Amino acid sequence: MGTYIVQGGRRIEGEFCVRGSKNAALPVLAACLLAEDVCVLENMPQITDVVQTLEILQELGCRVDWDGRTVMIDTKQISSFVIDNDKVGKMRSSILFLGALLGREKQAKLAYPGGCAIGRRPIDLHLAAFQRMGVEILEENCILDCKVSRIAGTQIYLPFPSVGATENILLLAVKAEGVTLIRNAAKEPEVVTLVRFLRAMGAEIYGEGTSSILVEGVSHLHGAVFTIPGDRIEGGTFLCAAAMTGGKLCLRGLEREQMGAVLEVWRMCGCRFLWEDSDTLLMEPPKCLRGDLTIVTGPFPAFPTDMQPLAMSLLTLAKGSCMISETVFEARFSQAGELCRMGADIRISGRNALIHGVDKLHGAEVSAGDLRCGAALLCAALAAEGVSLVHGSEYVERGYESIENAFSFLGGDIRLQEERNGYV
Ligand code: UD1
Repeated sequence: MGTYIVQGGRRIEGEFCVRGSKNAALPVLAACLLAEDVCVLENMPQITDVVQTLEILQELGCRVDWDGRTVMIDTKQISSFVIDNDKVGKMRSSILFLGALLGREKQAKLAYPGGCAIGRRPIDLHLAAFQRMGVEILEENCILDCKVSRIAGTQIYLPFPSVGATENILLLAVKAEGVTLIRNAAKEPEVVTLVRFLRAMGAEIYGEGTSSILVEGVSHLHGAVFTIPGDRIEGGTFLCAAAMTGGKLCLRGLEREQMGAVLEVWRMCGCRFLWEDSDTLLMEPPKCLRGDLTIVTGPFPAFPTDMQPLAMSLLTLAKGSCMISETVFEARFSQAGELCRMGADIRISGRNALIHGVDKLHGAEVSAGDLRCGAALLCAALAAEGVSLVHGSEYVERGYESIENAFSFLGGDIRLQEERNGYV
């Protein structure tokens, strides 16, 4: 637990290479279980969600060696199919171990997963799909006890293109007997990354990045060497801080086709972009950010819900009025009240937020309620006049590798004070 102490008013500018993507890394780590072999993963971000996922793998009996950004995972032998309640409670993505363990051991036991406090986040789509594939699910005291004698390939229609459900179905379907067709599958880049990794392990999958994914089950997968792609949300976070503080930025390690909806919004605010190579993005901010726009979050390629708190932070300083509609999660505006403490003018009505741009924000003591809320508050604090205290570093650290060092490197005045015995 800790607090960021930020002296605002300095430009975030310069050159930076984004780190590996959290949301791509977590399903890939779960998929390693299916290899029954050694997997080597490069460009692994050093964030707490990854550390906790590696701890789950170790508790299952896998060997994990971490060297810089390279992780070697040996899943030849595992000694358990039960995942510790405490871990599952903290991290929603641990639900992906259900598909991976069932694919490997034909049984799995874990508690209902947790994660950031951004709405109900049920797992009914995961469970309904598993049942269609032959999995028996017993539920007692919030513990899911699952087993399957024959994993049956089948057709699955997802009523909503859930990222996690698509990934979980993939993790089970690669080991199914026969063909599985996922209709209305998620098209997110992180799903595409998981498919590429599974394919490198010997899986037969077609159609990733479209709404129909076809999987031909195989009896055996093998180890693979794989590089985690750059984090589009981390990239968007730096674009937010630079645009709010008026700094020019050069970001490396991004994939152009993943950034479309985000860059479109930043462009409407007056930012200009140039792709130098397919992975290097230059941004020049305007003298004054423009508003009068509407953002509607949605499944890829629409505007990502993970960038919504950051976009709200950006728009607090844009001239004019803007509307944000959050269609993916029902409670994802926890940053709004905190931004208002810094002088922002935001009104929330259900899933909509109305933002009237102000000339400046001022430093304040605020608290992060979840990961992206924390990042949005840090961007606001960097742009504000005066000093801000942003509590809740433990949320930010779930998905950002020492963000205080990254922002300092880019010119920000920010440091992290760890809390000891409740004192900062
Ligand atoms: C993943 C990302 C998260 C991102 C989200 C949407 C990871 C680790 N997390 O989360 O950062 O914000 O995608 O892009 O990759 N839903 C159901 N029933 C289900 C599953 C989902 O109703 O069984 C609903 C959820 O409550 C939510 C919506 O579908 O309202 C989207 O959820 P989903 O796409 O599954 O998000 P996650 O995979 O949890």
